[in-house]
Amino acid sequence: MNLVLMGLPGAGKGTQAERLVEEYKVPHISTGDMFRAAIKEETELGLEAKSFMDKGELVPDEVTIGIVRERLGKNDCEKGFLLDGFPRTVAQAEALENILADMNRKLDYVINIKVDQDILMERLTGRRICKNCGATYHLVFNPPAKEGVCDKCGGELYQRDDDNEETVGNRLEVNLKQSQPLLDFYEKKGYLRDIDGQQDINKVFADIKELLGGFGK
Ligand code: AP5
Ligand code: ZN
Repeated sequence: MNLVLMGLPGAGKGTQAERLVEEYKVPHISTGDMFRAAIKEETELGLEAKSFMDKGELVPDEVTIGIVRERLGKNDCEKGFLLDGFPRTVAQAEALENILADMNRKLDYVINIKVDQDILMERLTGRRICKNCGATYHLVFNPPAKEGVCDKCGGELYQRDDDNEETVGNRLEVNLKQSQPLLDFYEKKGYLRDIDGQQDINKVFADIKELLGGFGK
């Protein structure tokens, strides 16, 4: 099962990815997570990515495409993968087509989680993430049982550096500009499937599972 999860910042890609990888046993490939790991490890990639992420801008295509190409070549992707947050530009989508063609593979679906722009600010500024296992919460919409503590592993919850109001505003603007041409690209290829992301988290997951049917099982 070769999937792409699309959606504006805060649409719920990471939240659904957490559940999907458990259900379908495919690796979760999030370029945002890969950049954040590189920043934490203070690698050259991390240093470069940080300068863009702090401003809410996109990391240049050549850098992003390179890390995805390398990641998709790893053994655990043989059975399939779930890409989250990549591609984000038409150039990245075209590169992905080439990477997959080189591997004699193609995408099955591009799942577009649709959410009205005006609720995304609240979703992102209220998001909290587990330092230990990466589980995602929301102060209002999906709170942990005990404030500041992960339900799954007891880890400490933190707020992402780019989840402040100013950076979120810029992320939304940048992504809005990029998303329509990308949606058109995948619509033409016949991969695109829309999912209503404004429902309860469990209902969104149920809709995606229904779309995928018995795929990958
Ligand atoms: P990235 O890490 O990919 O961030 P993003 O796209 O901005 O998306 P988010 O992770 O913020 O949102 P999400 O859709 O996963 O939402 P979540 O599920 O957490 O990218 C960060 C940066 O890295 C970019 O700005 C860029 O600089 C760089 N980058 C990454 N990929 C790149 C690429 N391909 N090219 C260039 N640069 C790249 O949910 C949000 C909140 O809402 C949570 O609190 C959650 O609990 C809550 N929530 C989720 N679903 C629901 C629901 N149904 N109802 C109510 N609340 C909900
Ligand atoms: Zn945790």
